[in-house]
Amino acid sequence: MERVKSCITGLDELMGGGFPQKQLILLTGTSGTGKTAFCTQFMYNGVKKYNENGVYLTLEEPIESIKENAKGFGWDFEALEKSKKFAFIRYDPFHIEDVFSMLESTVRQVKANRVVVDSVSAIGLHIKDKTELRRMIFNLSLILRKLNCTALITSEIVPGSKGISRYGVEEFVSDSVIVLYYERLQSTFSRALQVWKVRGSAHSEKLHPYKIDENGITVYPKEEAFIKW
Ligand SMILES: Nc1ncnc2c1ncn2[C@@H]1O[C@H](COP(=O)(O)OP(=O)(O)OP(=O)(O)O)[C@@H](O)[C@H]1O
Ligand SMILES: [Mg+2]
Repeated sequence: MERVKSCITGLDELMGGGFPQKQLILLTGTSGTGKTAFCTQFMYNGVKKYNENGVYLTLEEPIESIKENAKGFGWDFEALEKSKKFAFIRYDPFHIEDVFSMLESTVRQVKANRVVVDSVSAIGLHIKDKTELRRMIFNLSLILRKLNCTALITSEIVPGSKGISRYGVEEFVSDSVIVLYYERLQSTFSRALQVWKVRGSAHSEKLHPYKIDENGITVYPKEEAFIKW
């Protein structure tokens, strides 16, 4: 199985060497767990260090805000855009019908191999039922596979819910799933990451601590995290 570098420090060794190529990888977690930071790190370093072109579809956060926050980690997305190896797409989730054809044409234009969709929960808010969302995400995975893209998509977890995604269907149509936790242990909150599944590959079955600082996200593959769950 061919692998793509996740560009998240410490993560690749938890999933057998990186993201399996052409897979749809779902990243979930409650608000503030660092999903968008994770996506920007995967994208920025993928383009910059591995010369894999990319497209980032944002359905919630404005492009300007993503760029601004990325600067805090030292990542200059404007320079990437100018290099023509990367493009942002911002889409209003109220007009969702043609979002994936828009994504497809941009992926072709940029010759992208890396794609981010942040978040698919935003799509779910504007469609009639879960079955429809499941079908849409499944179609997305087929399109991106055909285009030789490895894709990272996000979904939120509602605090207190026992599920691992917003609608409970996202994980079934994704090839791999990573869950981010931000849980209270006495008076401090701690961050932990779990590789929930990787189709066709062995992976860590432990909870691992991770941090977010000025260098972005770092996972500690040799350490175990303890959170209340
Ligand atoms: N430069 C930085 N240094 C340290 N921590 C940071 C930095 N930038 C962001 N963070 C941490 O990341 C968190 C936000 O991350 P992010 O926006 O990626 O979360 P998210 O999971 O996408 O949230 P949402 O569900 O609201 O979109 C902040 O609350 C903060 O704790
Ligand atoms: Mg976000």
